[in-house]
Amino acid sequence: MNFQPLTPELVSAFEQIVGHQHVLTAHGVEAEIYADYGRDHTEDLHFAPDVVLRPANAEEISQIVRLCYEHHIPVTPRGAGTGLSGGALPIHNGVVISTERLNKIIEIDERNLQATVEPGVINQVFQEAVQAKGLFYPPDPASKGSCTLGGNLAHSSGGPKAVKYGTTRDYVLNLQVVLPTGDLIWTAANTLKNSTGYNLTQLMVGSEGTLGIITKVVFRLLPYPQQNILMLVPFRQIEQAAEAVSAVFRAGIIPSGMEFMEREAIAWSSDYLQIPLTLPEDIHAHLLIELDGQDLDELYKEAEQVYDVLGHYDVGEVLLADNATQKDELWRIRRNIGNSVRYNSVYKEEDTVVPRAELPILLKGVKEIGARYGFKSVCYGHAGDGNLHVNIIRGDLNDEQWNVGLRQPISEIFELCVKLGGTISGEHGIGLVQKGYIGIALPEVNLDLMRGIKRVFDPAGILNPGKIF
Ligand code: LAC
Ligand code: ZN
Repeated sequence: MNFQPLTPELVSAFEQIVGHQHVLTAHGVEAEIYADYGRDHTEDLHFAPDVVLRPANAEEISQIVRLCYEHHIPVTPRGAGTGLSGGALPIHNGVVISTERLNKIIEIDERNLQATVEPGVINQVFQEAVQAKGLFYPPDPASKGSCTLGGNLAHSSGGPKAVKYGTTRDYVLNLQVVLPTGDLIWTAANTLKNSTGYNLTQLMVGSEGTLGIITKVVFRLLPYPQQNILMLVPFRQIEQAAEAVSAVFRAGIIPSGMEFMEREAIAWSSDYLQIPLTLPEDIHAHLLIELDGQDLDELYKEAEQVYDVLGHYDVGEVLLADNATQKDELWRIRRNIGNSVRYNSVYKEEDTVVPRAELPILLKGVKEIGARYGFKSVCYGHAGDGNLHVNIIRGDLNDEQWNVGLRQPISEIFELCVKLGGTISGEHGIGLVQKGYIGIALPEVNLDLMRGIKRVFDPAGILNPGKIF
């Protein structure tokens, strides 16, 4: 790629657009803060941007991008930097555009069950704002307390509730986007249905900041489900936990959460949070199952059906969370698995996904491949979606083993996913660290179509270059 270096004249032009205090460089007074913009939550990777810009609105982003387009400067958009595939890393240096100041909830439209927001709003802040009005925005990534809605859109993030309610893309009606040329567009209309031309909205969702920078979003909302039941189910055999997942759905139940945690995942996280949890020696995995709705009696009936299904498996004593604090603790343990693994070791996070009934075969295959190649993995994830996070622990692996030696076993894991009708990422995206593997999931014809789309949107190739393919 043939990018141009950033000149002092361009930096001055950026200062004119966003204000001096919102231009960060390695030499500025906020040099330490600047350094954080070169990393995200992916392994221990770091790439230094030439400059970090913190614009306040779409118009400023449009002016910045237009300048970068004219001068051939790479631009990397960034939300909160909680991504796990390196999507927000400025691998060609250049300009990082942070959306952190675009953090307004512009409108919650209770008449239409819609909301218009800026991309820098934190997921949980948005959830709580709509919940205060009796409304529900379901997508809830593990990092919901810190990740931004813009980042969620970039990867169509999921989270535990996706199993019943779908991922981020299922809630988007319309997007305002700065294109890689600097043009500002709306992709669609604020309607629940739309048969007017190609679906640019859905093309933008999941495009990982390679086709445009989202500057406003119109989401659809649901009524808030007022009741829920949460149960933690211990299994003596790890494969049985995976098998029970599809059996629950076959019994006619759609849980609002169906999470799998192998023993070490739950043990590391409860240790990390210092939340005591009894883990008998013979328990090797857990399912965390949530049911939600408006009527508690109905939910108890569903819970009975779940118990009937579980009766066919070798399970320990089920913990039925009986108050809000206990529920909150169980969810905190689940959400902090990634953090607890990171606390223990650098790791590679694979985001494998297969049709849910194939989960037992995937899990077995991952462990078998790990044993054959000599690496340790901690597995957990959104079992109801067939989405298994495989955390490969660096431990004592040397640089060669870590950077080169794992390529073959990771390829084998991904090949297994594809063989089972699955793919290589369910919700974390391809970004930087999975792009070497995308050919396992997608044929060259598909990739060529994607490259063509990229050229149409971004003729100069400046926006988040070097990601996805
Ligand atoms: C989770 C993140 C890693 O499910 O996707 O915890
Ligand atoms: Zn996840």
